[in-house]
Amino acid sequence: MKKIHVKTGVPYDICIERGLLPRCGELIGEITSSRHTVIVTDDRVNKLYTATVRKSLEQSGFTVDVFVFPNGEMSKCHPTLIALYSFLSEKQITRKDMLIALGGGVVGDLAGFAAATYLRGIDFVQIPTTLLAQIDSSVGGKTGVDIESGKNLVGAFHQPRLVLCDPDTLATLTPEIRNDGVAEAIKYGAIKSRSLFDKLAQRPLEEVLDEVIYECIDIKRRVVEEDEFDNGERMLLNFGHTLGHAVEKIFNYTTYTHGQGVAVGMYIITELSERYGLTKPGEAEQIKRVLERYSLPTDSGSTATELITNSLNDKKRSKGDIHIILIKEIGQGYIQKLTLDQYKQFIQGVYTCE
Ligand SMILES: NC(=O)c1ccc[n+]([C@@H]2O[C@H](COP(=O)([O-])OP(=O)(O)OC[C@H]3O[C@@H](n4cnc5c(N)ncnc54)[C@H](O)[C@@H]3O)[C@@H](O)[C@H]2O)c1
Ligand SMILES: [Zn+2]
Repeated sequence: MKKIHVKTGVPYDICIERGLLPRCGELIGEITSSRHTVIVTDDRVNKLYTATVRKSLEQSGFTVDVFVFPNGEMSKCHPTLIALYSFLSEKQITRKDMLIALGGGVVGDLAGFAAATYLRGIDFVQIPTTLLAQIDSSVGGKTGVDIESGKNLVGAFHQPRLVLCDPDTLATLTPEIRNDGVAEAIKYGAIKSRSLFDKLAQRPLEEVLDEVIYECIDIKRRVVEEDEFDNGERMLLNFGHTLGHAVEKIFNYTTYTHGQGVAVGMYIITELSERYGLTKPGEAEQIKRVLERYSLPTDSGSTATELITNSLNDKKRSKGDIHIILIKEIGQGYIQKLTLDQYKQFIQGVYTCE
């Protein structure tokens, strides 16, 4: 079994191995003295994986309750959260007990936030079942829910006690949901690892999937360890995201998935920065080619004005300045601070470097 140790305020292990799901009870049993747990999952994942997880937990002596909600981003909101709090209270969950987030990023963010807040904080374990959740959302301790004025606007930093990553679970993903995760993997390659990028560009995904998962998690670990509370280096992980969020928003979150938005964002920002001489020539084209390999878009047909307007209330913005993430070349991301005017010029294609 591969293990990645994350040295955040509260340190924890990420275990990566095929066939981990049927053994999860044993591993979770080692990190808690409680024998009562609640699995939080969505209806789709529930049908596929809850029975396996439950059986393994029961074999390790756990009493298991299961909270299921409808799959999709729409559920990552206060009504689901409040229903979950009531469920925890009804099942007499105490501060010593543990939640298990079984599912994609929606489940992880919601269950994680419930764990961060219920009884002022209880432990939770992540069992991520989408590629995006395995390489991104389950690592780093950001939890939260959406409110009407924006996604992820209410949340907390709360690190899991353990992350169990079983690549076997990815076999049931639709190609679209899988490729959403690939967009984030391409992002890690673009900002931190030329060799990871090349793997994704050249090798069949099935052959390299396990290595890709490991490498992505390890990159995120490094970045998170340096900047647990997202004040500096961690911003690098937003490569493609400022414009990506704008693209998702312009189409009311109905046309482009998150990964597709990020794909468009990575290509546009790199194509622009190449024009200004801030990125080595030819890198945007390479990003385009790898995205196309996974049926990810590189253009949404949005105008510069639409992109600017819809990216400006991005919560990553600090006061008047905007931090955008660029790459010097593939594998070398950096943070570029721009004034609001410079940002507008940048996206309009008329920026002049000082
Ligand atoms: N906390 C963080 O640091 C962080 C980082 C990135 C994204 N996120 C959040 O993650 C969410 C997106 O995550 P996601 O893409 O995993 O979405 P998701 O949880 O909605 O999962 C996508 C779909 O896949 C289904 N699914 C999950 N596992 C499956 C499996 N093994 N087989 C078949 N179907 C399966 C789900 O039921 C759902 O319909 C967003 O809410 C985003 O804000 C959080
Ligand atoms: Zn993302």
